[in-house]
Amino acid sequence: MEHVIADSLHARRILVTGAGGQLGAALLEEFPDARGLTREQWDVTLPPFFEADLVLHAAAWTDVDGAESDPQEAAAVNVGGTQHVAELGAPFVYFSTDYVFDGRKNEPYVESDGPNPLSVYGRTKLHGEAAAGEEAWIARSSWLFGSTGHNFVRTMLALGRERDEVAVVDDQRGSPTYVGHLATATRELLALPYGVWHVAADGDCTWAEFAEAIFDEAGIDCRVRRITTAELGRPAPRPAYSVLRSERAEAPRLPHWREGLRECLARLLPD
Ligand SMILES: NC(=O)c1ccc[n+]([C@@H]2O[C@H](COP(=O)([O-])OP(=O)(O)OC[C@H]3O[C@@H](n4cnc5c(N)ncnc54)[C@H](OP(=O)(O)O)[C@@H]3O)[C@@H](O)[C@H]2O)c1
Repeated sequence: MEHVIADSLHARRILVTGAGGQLGAALLEEFPDARGLTREQWDVTLPPFFEADLVLHAAAWTDVDGAESDPQEAAAVNVGGTQHVAELGAPFVYFSTDYVFDGRKNEPYVESDGPNPLSVYGRTKLHGEAAAGEEAWIARSSWLFGSTGHNFVRTMLALGRERDEVAVVDDQRGSPTYVGHLATATRELLALPYGVWHVAADGDCTWAEFAEAIFDEAGIDCRVRRITTAELGRPAPRPAYSVLRSERAEAPRLPHWREGLRECLARLLPD
């Protein structure tokens, strides 16, 4: 194991899949020597055609609602794509999700809790964990946001500038995680044994509380109307509670989500 860990830390050819996504962008900042591959450069549903010493596998089908009506395509990316990464034979980090849990617990989910995904997306990500095999770090995180790409923070900033009020669900609780913090934690993970690790921001909130914090920190005057998941009526079911914590003593500890939000806004709203 020591040998594998040392090799991963000093890996020469580091690949980042999903380089066009928000986590991919953060990983490329944290690992400046890595080669980033966008979907155009490698569609992971196709077999690999190159070699690598370490892969940070951030490519995924992340359209949670869209997966409900296109389960085969979602599985082709999240399960088949992960099998293809495993075929490279290099150690890799597979990024998984809090949506592998059903949300019926009312205290933080730890690695030994049994998954029971509610949605197609959650099921494909869980099957992707199995496809990752034994020589992989499975980094489960939650509610990702960053200064690029599609995410809740950027959506709320855009809506908050246009409207006096936004309706946001207040009956789902999780830990919004800044991709910059997850990228730093990913580096720490490489010094730890393979297996499942919960790697999410400290603290928790509902989406409505998160929206209020975004407006507060950004100085935007917009009210948050608290609604239920049922009122929003999205196609994919989501866990009502999906706070992740690690039960493993060596696990990377991430800053509080509010700290992540401030760092993200400092990039999005330079003075
Ligand atoms: N977002 C969250 O809240 C969240 C929470 C927990 C875990 N995760 C996991 O974290 C990882 C990164 O998520 P993210 O938020 O960075 O997602 P993202 O911004 O949607 O990025 C995913 C990237 O994967 C690419 N991709 C999709 N299909 C592909 C394919 N067939 N071949 C190659 N690339 C493909 C996408 O390209 P296109 O833009 O061209 O589609 C996109 O650039 C994923 O594994 C996700 O499941 C995300």
